[in-house]
Amino acid sequence: MKFTPIQDIISGKREGKSAHVRGWIYRKRESKDVIFLVVRDATGIIQCTVKKGSKLWTCAEKVTIESSVTLSGTVRLDKRAPGGFELSSDSLQIIGLAETFPISKDKSEDFLRDVRHLWLRSRKMNLVMRIRSEVLGFIHEFFRKKSFIEVSPPMFISSACEGGSTLFGLKYFDQDLYLTQSAQLHLEALIYSLEKVYTVAPSFRAEKSRTIRHLTEYWHVEPEQAFADIDDMMRLEEDLVSYVCQKVAKECKKELEELGVKAEKLASVKPPFSRITYTDAVEMLNKKGVKMKWGDDFGFDEERKLAEEFGKPVFVYAYPKQIKAFYCKTYRDNPELAISADLLVPNIGEITTGGSRVDDKDELVTRMKEMGLNEKDYEWYIDLRRYGTVPHAGFGLGVERLIEWMLNLDNIIDAIPFPRTTRRFYP
Ligand code: 4AD
Ligand code: MG
Repeated sequence: MKFTPIQDIISGKREGKSAHVRGWIYRKRESKDVIFLVVRDATGIIQCTVKKGSKLWTCAEKVTIESSVTLSGTVRLDKRAPGGFELSSDSLQIIGLAETFPISKDKSEDFLRDVRHLWLRSRKMNLVMRIRSEVLGFIHEFFRKKSFIEVSPPMFISSACEGGSTLFGLKYFDQDLYLTQSAQLHLEALIYSLEKVYTVAPSFRAEKSRTIRHLTEYWHVEPEQAFADIDDMMRLEEDLVSYVCQKVAKECKKELEELGVKAEKLASVKPPFSRITYTDAVEMLNKKGVKMKWGDDFGFDEERKLAEEFGKPVFVYAYPKQIKAFYCKTYRDNPELAISADLLVPNIGEITTGGSRVDDKDELVTRMKEMGLNEKDYEWYIDLRRYGTVPHAGFGLGVERLIEWMLNLDNIIDAIPFPRTTRRFYP
């Protein structure tokens, strides 16, 4: 039997014709003479009616929420039905009769997180995951159009990229290893062969922070480019973010509308983004009554405040080198400042960090010593400066933070199907 995706029915393609659908019972309502079964499949939901007296009545009475079913009938236009069409059923079969489904309207957010494996069936999660898939597709499309080569760096690593405090350790046979925090160092090795590389892969952070923007496992978009500098990266970042926003605005209209997200907001994200130095940003915050000194790092609140001032994405660049990583190049005429930029967005703050990398061997070793790192752990990385070093740059973008911002999600955990946080690793 050929089944019709529900989306095809509600888009009007089968009005007046018969259709077979299969999916799950999403809602059920009984009146004296009719049972309304709202059925969902991957593509949408449709209301199906079963009339009293029909041979299906007993089966319709028995069927429970989230049971899997096949249903056949005639498609009718009905303005009152969700989606505008209704199936008057002439056949109904139960594939798997569901026990009492634990999710109902009155359940708490916390409960929904405990039963995430079931909550993934909700319309909200269905729509977010559809858009997430598109976002990932557009990211790949963007880099491929720009001739970046996709590479696959390792997840098991032997030394930190972003400092020891957020490293997850693990036993690797009888040795101590870590889960990667960023592919950057390995990407740097690959530019000596391929020049322009990128990866989209998980990164892991043993981050104790319990905020709406922290996961312990997230998906990280990281390009790295030879013969490039921070300005090239900021342009690449604003082009990437704008490309993804505009494509989603165009290709995901229905999903955005159902999620209550204005497509125009995304369509209006266009380069160039504003740019402000760290020093000016501190001054701006001080004027707004935020107490902080030059040299302090921005926290969640400071970043949000800054982004709010601009009301759209903004780059902050030229940070004090002490608050940036060991691999950050510094300005020739101001060695206290790192050639590093963060992209901040309203409500969330930082969604990317990137910049120019130290390309001189001695300078790199000095920076590592200053930061208390052991040269031995980074021999291979230092090698890259020994054999044909070149100026280069890259950045990292958190996929879930991007989606959280694009879709106005209350919490980053809804941007990924099975979120891992300090407290959650089940299911
Ligand atoms: O700022 P981060 O730590 O920078 C790096 O890892 C660089 N090595 C990237 C590079 O230059 N290739 O992380 C980059 C981005 C952040 O801006 C943020 O969007 C995301 O990764 N991120 C997180 N997302 C969710 N949960 C966390 N705990 C995150 N930590 C970082
Ligand atoms: Mg950062």
